[in-house]
Amino acid sequence: MRPRDDLDLPWLAERERRGPVLRKGAGVTPTAWFDPRGRALGSFAFALNRLTALGLVLYLYLHLGVLSLLLRGEDAWSDFLRLATTGAFLALDVLLLFGLLFHGLNGVRIALVGSGVVPERHRALFWAFTVVGVLALTAGALRILGGG
Ligand code: HEM
Repeated sequence: MRPRDDLDLPWLAERERRGPVLRKGAGVTPTAWFDPRGRALGSFAFALNRLTALGLVLYLYLHLGVLSLLLRGEDAWSDFLRLATTGAFLALDVLLLFGLLFHGLNGVRIALVGSGVVPERHRALFWAFTVVGVLALTAGALRILGGG
């Protein structure tokens, strides 16, 4: 196979430039996917939606694995509870709450925009749901970390 630089295709020079993926043609360089410059709010929301989705799927399997400790009896479960109530573990609960809130609220936003209920207001919805999410996350974090 010929090396890529030997091909005379219009977008090859553009692909090598640093910056957003937009209009760079097919097959952007791998690093371009991780370049945050010049992207719109929706791109960040999409990336975070996918990250939180993957995190939630991972959590679901972890959760089922942890629940299977119940099969090993009371001692195994009590040992787990001792670990689960340490500060570091509770901080992970707050991270989980963040993932759930972001993914859930952003999902509702996508559904409202995509189904044509509020087609032109995706940015306003993003910021409105951000306020709701921050309030809910703060209340949840205080409850989880404060033990209230
Ligand atoms: C709170 C309720 C939830 C709502 C409203 C919601 C909504 C959505 C929506 C609208 C999408 C499509 C995003 C797009 O088209 O760009 C999506 C994707 C996805 N969701 Fe959820 N979701 C919820 C909970 C969950 C949970 C609990 C999990 C995992 C256990 C999950 C896993 C996923 C995955 C893996 C994707 C695909 C992500 C991607 O392709 O980038 N979701 N969700």
